[in-house]
Amino acid sequence: MLALTVHPGKPNSINLENVPPPPASDGEVLVRTIALGLCGTDREIIAGDYGTAPAGEERLIIGHESLGRVETAPEGSGLRPGDLVVGIVRRPDPVPCPACAAGEWDMCRNGRYTERGIKARNGYGSEQFRIEPEFAVKLDPSLNTLGVLMEPTSVVAKAWEQCLRIGNRGAAWRPRAALITGAGPIGLLAAMIGVQHGLDVHVYDHNKGGVKPGLTRDLGATYHTEFPDLQRLNPDIVLECTGAAPVVQQTIGGAAAAGIVCLAGVSASGHDVSFDIGGFNQAMVLENQTVFGSVNANHRHYAAAAAALARADRAWLSRLITRRVPLSRWSEAFERRDDDIKVVLDFAGGLESAAH
Ligand code: BGC
Repeated sequence: MLALTVHPGKPNSINLENVPPPPASDGEVLVRTIALGLCGTDREIIAGDYGTAPAGEERLIIGHESLGRVETAPEGSGLRPGDLVVGIVRRPDPVPCPACAAGEWDMCRNGRYTERGIKARNGYGSEQFRIEPEFAVKLDPSLNTLGVLMEPTSVVAKAWEQCLRIGNRGAAWRPRAALITGAGPIGLLAAMIGVQHGLDVHVYDHNKGGVKPGLTRDLGATYHTEFPDLQRLNPDIVLECTGAAPVVQQTIGGAAAAGIVCLAGVSASGHDVSFDIGGFNQAMVLENQTVFGSVNANHRHYAAAAAALARADRAWLSRLITRRVPLSRWSEAFERRDDDIKVVLDFAGGLESAAH
């Protein structure tokens, strides 16, 4: 079968090649891939900056934003041939740590977790993949190809859950306004969930043209091309989705009293900036502010993501997928285009014409 592979650590080694069928050790459920979403993490892996091959191997099959149809599943697994599924990305560490043992692998305490397509486990970027039934999430069939948005939505659903859990340590805390930095797929899905929570949502992105302003407005949120005045906006929640060091710097300590800044984008290291640690300390202590990081997702977050996608406008979700590239032209999918939001590789053919 065809699979997208890299040699982790070696820049631009990505290749579409023939590999053996997925091994039984990957799980009892056999899935035929429909689509694969691509993200910044894939680009980092392709650049050789991130990612690890499975133990004893040099090659990693990439891809963690999956969508596929079950071909075979064991009796009693709750899955049947034809079911639309996505694969959970992370697997618990082998110890397992207390968090992983409790099904919260997204909060792993010892860093020995693995991730499909990223860290020491082959991913979903192959014509077929195998998965353990408990790590395959069944989708509402009406989502159709939009199900490929499930994994990024799960990451955002976790970030929102964590913000609300932190905020609710104050008995009378009621969030009013949220600022989302970055109008990529993560930022826009975060804005979508913020609007679903009934918040006054503001999105900051430096892009003046393209589809981002319209997508933001069509959610009922406000689009800013200049970094907003945080004193005036007074956001209860800031979801930082760019990972860009100057933007991160502008957000931290900038929430309302008892407000929360969630860092959900990953920065490259080595960005030294001058930072007023005293001012930051005052905001944290004297205003009960919180800055925290959030990554990955567990079952609870996939369920929340499924609910958020079910409530969303299908036409709006479909506009997030700005390019659907057939597998035969896979290298085009990794080209950077100005107007890209989510680029999806079409493994099955016909995504373009699929009804949403
Ligand atoms: C994925 C997460 C993963 C993270 C770190 C993200 O792109 O969506 O599932 O945990 O990268 O590897």
